[in-house]
Amino acid sequence: MYKYTVHTYVMEHTPSPGPYRAIAKDLAAKFAPRAAIWDQERRYCWDNVADLANAGLMGMTIPTRYGGQGASFLDTVVVVEEIAKVCTLSARIVVEANMGGISAIMAYGTEAQKEFVVPYVLAGDKPAICISEPDAGSAATQMATTARRVGGGYVLNGTKHWITGGGVSKLHLVFARVLDEAGMEQGIGGFILCCDPENGLIHEGFTVAGRERTMGLCGMPETTLHFEDVFIEDRFVLTPPSGFKRGFADLMNAYNSQRVGAGAIAMGVAAGALAHAKRYLLEREQFGRPLAEFQGLQWMVADMDASVHASRLMLHEAAQSRGPNGSIFPDITMAARAKLFASEAAIKVVNDALQMFGARGYGSDEPLERMYRDVRMFTIGGGTAQILRTQVAGSILGIRTPQTRGGY
Ligand code: FAD
Ligand code: COA
Repeated sequence: MYKYTVHTYVMEHTPSPGPYRAIAKDLAAKFAPRAAIWDQERRYCWDNVADLANAGLMGMTIPTRYGGQGASFLDTVVVVEEIAKVCTLSARIVVEANMGGISAIMAYGTEAQKEFVVPYVLAGDKPAICISEPDAGSAATQMATTARRVGGGYVLNGTKHWITGGGVSKLHLVFARVLDEAGMEQGIGGFILCCDPENGLIHEGFTVAGRERTMGLCGMPETTLHFEDVFIEDRFVLTPPSGFKRGFADLMNAYNSQRVGAGAIAMGVAAGALAHAKRYLLEREQFGRPLAEFQGLQWMVADMDASVHASRLMLHEAAQSRGPNGSIFPDITMAARAKLFASEAAIKVVNDALQMFGARGYGSDEPLERMYRDVRMFTIGGGTAQILRTQVAGSILGIRTPQTRGGY
């Protein structure tokens, strides 16, 4: 009477573009039993990375002429949802291997830069995007890291922190304030730093320091990076299309794709939690009846389903949108709105799912406590809920919302 499968539920609600959902589902089945291990051992999931690379999901958005799959951001969102249902860590890797830093390089980079970075990503590297600093988190335009012009390149000085995959990623895209030889400010640019000692790529003055001890997402190192007179050759300077003067806006345009990816992770975790809740409500009996028969819980399920569904629709819309002036990246407002909604909704959905498990939800025999710790991050990293609200409100009201007194 209470027969069901998790997959049936999910498929009913989800459009399936291309072959990617099936590929991702196969991998998710493989990743599910391993997810608790990476979390408990605070270990990066290299086994999963190998599987993702073999399946063509590392660098799936890279055009086919460079060896990628030429997949869209929507395809990536679909993959991320399936993987995030079981392993948040692996889903974050899929996002960073296909959106954000890599997208900026593929869109704005020189041919030589693309040819340099692509083999790394296809082989399993995910570029670390380095924006945040100890004194410039939300106020990213206030970053203090500088790149000063010298003969043949730039010299980087500064500190970035909370860098996802710092010490694991070989490739880094570092945002920095560009100075000319005389120290006059030019704007903000991106600097590709590849740390690959095995192949002789060492950067004097570049160090990876203290790993954060996080409440969730424990397999992923979040680290501080120090740059002390680090020389970056001209060939690794990512010049934004509008030049350094408006470089921040161009780089953030590319970053909007990663915001959609982050929202998709949150939505996937929520969809996974909902599937677990459904299983348990049908399985567990109290007062001589399955929990599923209590209306108090039924209404929670309906709200959880509505939240996941609305998140998915907003994320799919954002993934397919394009910003102004021929941008190939998601629209800033749609990306902000979708990440804002999906991240807040997911925290509530996972919390409610955990509640339905009673004490069992609080223990580690079920994955809910891990999902709860993981999903909490998504209203913080990648633009906080408050910053995203400010961006959406500015767009709706048709007003500029600079938070920085006196400009950046
Ligand atoms: P703050 O900016 O100090 O904000 C503190 C609080 O004040 C927040 O609630 C914020 O919403 C609020 N606030 C700030 N300004 C305003 C305002 N104008 N209006 C209203 N409210 C405001 N960064 C990277 O560059 N690369 C990464 O790979 C990366 N990965 C991360 C991974 C994790 C797990 C986490 C937690 C963070 C990561 N970050 C990364 C950093 C992240 O982007 C920042 O944490 C985020 O931008 C917020 O900055 P902050 O933590 O300094 O908070
Ligand atoms: N996409 C495209 N352009 C963007 C953008 C985005 N997501 N965010 C800002 N910009 C543009 C603005 O339109 C503005 O361009 P303009 O000068 O032509 O108007 C310029 O960048 C500066 O933005 P502004 O809002 O004036 O900056 P601010 O000093 O008030 O700072 C931000 C606000 C942008 C830094 C803040 O809203 C923000 O996004 N903080 C979060 C940083 C983040 O996500 N970090 C994640 C690290 S992983």
